[in-house]
Amino acid sequence: MPIHRCGDVVAVSAVATNLTVVTILRLVVMQSTKRFLFHQERDCTMTNIYLDHSATTPVDPRVLQAMIPYFTEVYGNASSAHYFGRNAENAIEEARETIAAVLQCKPKEIIFTSGGSESDNLAIRGAAWAAHTKGKGTHLITSPIEHGAVGKTIDQLAAQQGFERTILPVDQYGFVNPDDFRAACKPGTTVASIMYANNEIGTIQPIKELASIAHENGVLFHTDAVQAAGQLSLDVNELGVDLLSLSGHKFYGPKGVGALYIRDGVEVTPAQTGGSHERGLRAGTQNTPLIVGLAEALRLAYEELETRTAHYKTVRDQLIGSIIANIPNAHLTGHGSKRLPAHASFVFENIQSGALIHLLDDEGIAASAASACKTGSPEPSSVLLALGYSRELAACTLRLTVGVQTKPQDIDYTVKTLATVVKSLIQQPASAQPVLA
Ligand SMILES: Cc1ncc(COP(=O)(O)O)c(C=O)c1O
Repeated sequence: MPIHRCGDVVAVSAVATNLTVVTILRLVVMQSTKRFLFHQERDCTMTNIYLDHSATTPVDPRVLQAMIPYFTEVYGNASSAHYFGRNAENAIEEARETIAAVLQCKPKEIIFTSGGSESDNLAIRGAAWAAHTKGKGTHLITSPIEHGAVGKTIDQLAAQQGFERTILPVDQYGFVNPDDFRAACKPGTTVASIMYANNEIGTIQPIKELASIAHENGVLFHTDAVQAAGQLSLDVNELGVDLLSLSGHKFYGPKGVGALYIRDGVEVTPAQTGGSHERGLRAGTQNTPLIVGLAEALRLAYEELETRTAHYKTVRDQLIGSIIANIPNAHLTGHGSKRLPAHASFVFENIQSGALIHLLDDEGIAASAASACKTGSPEPSSVLLALGYSRELAACTLRLTVGVQTKPQDIDYTVKTLATVVKSLIQQPASAQPVLA
């Protein structure tokens, strides 16, 4: 029996025969509760400025257009041996070629995954297990400022599977010292994982130099390029990496899809078993529309890299310059120039991140404390603690990340509002400031 939704009203056609009035009422309640719970409407006259592009980006309408036919027309299972399956498979292979062209690698070196977290897990677990099986050793190297998808994976390998790990120190900007890295490599070191650019402070690591030291010592080098993608070169030969992780939703592609580059010849044990999809390295029916979207988003990001980066830098520098000039207790975190073009991050002395984000949200500005995953957590940022900040300051972070649609007037409004909000909060001791639920 047909049910037509129109706004909040569920109209039931006259041919309703099977559903009782109670069931119909239940559906009406479910629809309105869903809407109430999951979608908060805002006054359409209110300002809405999105400065949280490191958390996620909107899907580019051109990407969405490219994806749509693969939901409704080319819907075959890419493993099926018929017309529908072949068309889906062709689209996936074309997407693999597109991504390989950006990374300057062979298409077969690209494996599709469900996102950055899965790519990181597969790279680290897979390479560490494969090397261990071959009797090459169990020592892993990483940094203390990695995303949890790297850090917690290595923690688990160490805690539960007998791997040994070295967590290198970082300096006040978040840089790993190549000499420390060289000194940590030893017989039995198999895999190192150091992120390309940090999600909380935007710092760009000297990946080329670190990868070269890894290779001098017979160590495989993985980099989490989730934040760097769409802003920095992903040429894997130039970088010299063996494994590199990507996630679609950070560069105007869809969520829930990513890729892992695995250099030809590098052995990886699958972390997810089942069918023989993705060269047997990642079981599970491939998600054709998302893979097509991932490739189209990456293609556009690199086709437009120069103009996008110039725009990011203009508005990002305007943001950093005005905040530092107008808000006395604001300090930039991370490095002044060796940072992602779209990334700005600060600590505001005596201002709790949670309170700041809450009040900015009330004024129509979407920002985040450190990283999206940490927002709402009362814990200080572990990244800032690793950089040597006190626990008090490490709880006072603000990350503002710009995007293709950010306008200079958005920055003016943000800085003006931020100055007012900070002034109001500074009157209250940090312990009395509202904490984000
Ligand atoms: C540096 C970094 N690595 C990995 C991830 C996880 O990516 P995904 O959300 O696609 O699982 C993120 C997400 O924010 C990230 O910033």
